[in-house]
Amino acid sequence: MRSLLMMLGLCVLMLSPFPVALSELCHPQDKKALLRFKRELNNPYFLASWDPKEDCCGWYCVKCDDRNNRIFTIFLRSDQPDPNVTGQIPPSVGDLPYLRGLSLHNLPNLVGPIQPTLAKLPRLTDISISNTGISGPIPEFLAQIKTLEYIELSSNKLSGSIPSSLSQLPNLITLRLDRNKLTGPIPASFGSFKKPGLDLILSHNQLSGPIPASLGNLDLERIDLSGNNFLGDASFLFGSKKNTELVDLSRNAFSFDLSRLTFPKQTLTWLDISHNNIYGSIPTGLTQVRYFQQLNFSYNPGLKGQIPQGGRLQTFDKYSYFHTHLCGSPLPPCTK
Ligand SMILES: *[C@@H]1O[C@H](CO)[C@@H](O)[C@H](O)[C@H]1NC(C)=O
Ligand SMILES: *[C@@H]1O[C@H](CO)[C@@H](O)[C@H](O)[C@H]1NC(C)=O
Repeated sequence: MRSLLMMLGLCVLMLSPFPVALSELCHPQDKKALLRFKRELNNPYFLASWDPKEDCCGWYCVKCDDRNNRIFTIFLRSDQPDPNVTGQIPPSVGDLPYLRGLSLHNLPNLVGPIQPTLAKLPRLTDISISNTGISGPIPEFLAQIKTLEYIELSSNKLSGSIPSSLSQLPNLITLRLDRNKLTGPIPASFGSFKKPGLDLILSHNQLSGPIPASLGNLDLERIDLSGNNFLGDASFLFGSKKNTELVDLSRNAFSFDLSRLTFPKQTLTWLDISHNNIYGSIPTGLTQVRYFQQLNFSYNPGLKGQIPQGGRLQTFDKYSYFHTHLCGSPLPPCTK
């Protein structure tokens, strides 16, 4: 999924090679806010290039917009966990009115809640905070930042339930909350997301209960609910008219009849329903799905009957089908 932040690399740990600028491009208010931001993170070596004598448009880990020379992204992305960035997300981040993207990655000593001053940013489209010590709930105020398109809060220590208000974000195209300690259900309001092609990645939390049938209204691009405590029906996520690429329901307690489902033939590449209580037989329609890269039905003892022969179904080995009552290649032949 396209995202402003994915176009940026890691920020490099080096001093700026830029000489003192003759005419500084950087806006003085942005410079002031960034220097406060650095101080609030306890002046980590990571931000050594943020030297008040240099033009802030030449600093590492930030970018200025070519049109108005205002700071539009901060990306503190370290390839190794960097323990030297300590403290909370600096409140001064709210004083960069042209900020569109904020990315904080691999900073285990970045702690505390998601910073409320983010709600002051009128142009913020992308937030990515991953692999940090950030904790507390996913705040309701995110729903007030109507410009948001991309929210990634993976691999933090977030807890509590998922706010239903997030579905009010009219432009949201990616919601990744995987690998936290979130509890409770998926809000029923999530069936009313506006943008088609949403990525909904909620894996490896402690979410529970049935998932709302309203999710069937959506044409999701990717949905990953793996490694939670969900139960009941999820059949409404499927359908031949959808354009879904990835469905991962593995390691839950889903229970529904697979037999009559239809699938997006042209787009589906990833289907993992392993470790559930899904029953019935594998629909022959699956042989027409053209681009499977991953397929896993294992550990659903209620699945039975012949594995349909053809398409990509036999390109996977027996481990995609074992601990079921299925038969036929790549498992031993069915016996009557
Ligand atoms: C953390 O700080 C120490 C002391 O300044 C430095 O030697 C080390 O390289 C820093 N680690 C990272 C990952 O920047
Ligand atoms: C399917 O899942 C089972 C159980 O988790 C695992 O052992 C197997 O390797 C998986 N198959 C594929 C193709 O990933």
